[in-house]
Amino acid sequence: MQARGLTKRFGDRDALKGVSFEAAPGELVAVIGPNGAGKTTLLSILAGILTADGGDVVVDSGAVGWVPQQAALYRRLTVEENLLLFARLEKHPDPRASVEEMLELSGLGERRGEIVARLSGGNQQRINIAIGLLSRPSVLLLDEPSVGLDPRQRARLWEFVSGLAVRGTTVIFSTHDIQEAERYGRRMLVLADGEALFDGSAEELREAVRHDAADPAASDNDFETAFVTYLQHRGH
Ligand SMILES: Nc1ncnc2c1ncn2[C@@H]1O[C@H](COP(=O)(O)OP(=O)(O)OP(=O)(O)O)[C@@H](O)[C@H]1O
Ligand SMILES: [Mg+2]
Repeated sequence: MQARGLTKRFGDRDALKGVSFEAAPGELVAVIGPNGAGKTTLLSILAGILTADGGDVVVDSGAVGWVPQQAALYRRLTVEENLLLFARLEKHPDPRASVEEMLELSGLGERRGEIVARLSGGNQQRINIAIGLLSRPSVLLLDEPSVGLDPRQRARLWEFVSGLAVRGTTVIFSTHDIQEAERYGRRMLVLADGEALFDGSAEELREAVRHDAADPAASDNDFETAFVTYLQHRGH
């Protein structure tokens, strides 16, 4: 997937000011940056649910899966009913088969008959992701997927998502957890005020951040604080 010079304006606010980047098959890209940086706007445009004002998105082949931050689930329906509903909405040739596949893949098989409202936040998030995967996308976009998950559920989420990447799915996710971005993102895209400040490996970002840190020796211990300094030095 490739984004070239994406711009988006809401009223008099520039949410994206010409963002370009590329993600190869099987690559995990973390999009990080302060509130209002444009992360959700960028992911929504890549997902095709929001139109850019300028620039374009090129998807090599296959579908793009979208996992929004707020799961649009029908809380009174069961896990299986939710998946079936979305498979039908997306006009799958064989909705039941797609649902079986997703129950299997997401490990939700045993909970298929449970009412969504009674599931934990983590399991609801798994359904949210399963819906994003229904179209068997070659590119999966996740907006802050780990928010509200406990450490074990977080680990499970990343185990699952990393497995998809190993099998060739391009995964692009946003997060406010710098440590998580570093751990799971093979590449990091730093956005601030609609601009891409950095695009590179976690190690390269560490290097750049260390360079800027108030106390370079401390930057390894507290990467998050060092990252804030890095943003400050760039006027954010
Ligand atoms: N539908 C909208 N209407 C008006 N302004 C919007 C809309 N969506 C986003 N914006 C503005 O665009 C900018 C980027 O927002 P966006 O939601 O993409 O940021 P974000 O990086 O996802 O932030 P957060 O970390 O808080 O989720 C913000 O200034 C926001 O107020
Ligand atoms: Mg957002």
